Amino acid sequence: MHCLVTGGAGLIGSHIVDKLLKKGHDVTILDNLDPQTHPNGKPSWIPKDAKFIHGDVNNYEDVKKALEGIDSISHQAAFGGFTNSISYYFDVNTSGTAKIFEVIREEGIEINKFVMASSQAIFGEGLYNSPKLGNFHPEPRSVEQLKQKKWEVLCPSSGEEAKPMPFTEQLEPFGVSPYALSKYFEEMIGLAFGKTYRIPVAALRYAVTYGPRQSIYNPYTGVFSIFSSMIVNNLSPLIFEDGNQTRDFIFVEDVADANICLLESDLKTQESFNVGTGSPTKVIDLASSLCKELNEKVQPKISEEFRYGDSRHFIHDSSKLKQYGWAPRFTIETGINKYTEWFKTQENVQTSFPEASEGLRKIGVIQKSD
Ligand SMILES: NC(=O)c1ccc[n+]([C@@H]2O[C@H](COP(=O)([O-])OP(=O)(O)OC[C@H]3O[C@@H](n4cnc5c(N)ncnc54)[C@H](O)[C@@H]3O)[C@@H](O)[C@H]2O)c1
Repeated sequence: MHCLVTGGAGLIGSHIVDKLLKKGHDVTILDNLDPQTHPNGKPSWIPKDAKFIHGDVNNYEDVKKALEGIDSISHQAAFGGFTNSISYYFDVNTSGTAKIFEVIREEGIEINKFVMASSQAIFGEGLYNSPKLGNFHPEPRSVEQLKQKKWEVLCPSSGEEAKPMPFTEQLEPFGVSPYALSKYFEEMIGLAFGKTYRIPVAALRYAVTYGPRQSIYNPYTGVFSIFSSMIVNNLSPLIFEDGNQTRDFIFVEDVADANICLLESDLKTQESFNVGTGSPTKVIDLASSLCKELNEKVQPKISEEFRYGDSRHFIHDSSKLKQYGWAPRFTIETGINKYTEWFKTQENVQTSFPEASEGLRKIGVIQKSD
């Protein structure tokens, strides 16, 4: 293969690049080195063996240049996190994805496989069960409910706390944040244009991904790096809600392996796949483990603040992807070890999370409970 990895300087893309090169494939990277993620420019981990193009997925000429000689695409470039740059999410994630297909069609480029990063965010909430309703997929918890510190998802029929359940790809998308919507439209563009132009497409709905190379600068996304940067600066990692919300944290190498698995597969159709471990971890437990590994002098702080549209629990059922031979190899414990080993090698770590979150409070993205 000669694979174009968009966003190949970032967390997930850079690990995909390494694995592709290791397997003997040729690689081109297209990355705009987004200053929020890469304030110091091109990161040192970009291998010399890959062709690097500094450019934007939403720029026709940059994409055309990047697609020279390419037969497969791993599309990872995106703008993420909870910020108020509403339209920019759509410029990069939605319009940028459409641009790639536009260049493919206009320039008559033959692509054998298009694997793209979608996100669990498209679902909004996870799947739940209550004795009265059985399995149900709720809309995001209301601001009124969250203000009253009723953090758990409630059964709309009985009002009782509902139990989180693993969900498959069949779950309906209910995401409400600009990021969630832009990723959902991105996925729809990939699946529909793949069908139109007869390109096999896999849209991978990643769970929360972490690992070495997660930007230590971006205060808007990447809970591992946000917590760790606060901890080493003697600040308590700030936990939204009560800390008992869970996430299906997945190690970056497992996500990169999922990409390689589908790039090398005989997939002929256009499909979505969940990519998660199926093992949820409480956010408070993650914060405590990072404090223990990085600086025992600080403890997590429960803020009882919240962000409307945040999910309470997510448990991925990734059986569909496992049929292609993929399985996660890292537990949360081994993943945290690998991450903190890397984090300890980072010099002069600072945190801009306190200022960034103050800004998000002012515009109502972060809200206080009563
Ligand atoms: N990390 C997660 O928890 C997670 C979860 C679900 C989905 N995803 C998706 O996975 C993909 C990769 O995420 P990541 O965690 O590696 O993020 P990242 O920020 O580490 O990497 C994204 C890369 O894309 C580049 N980029 C941003 N805008 C661009 C543009 N307009 N043109 C070209 N390059 C651009 C950035 O410079 C960066 O190197 C994204 O599509 C993201 O939406 C990530």
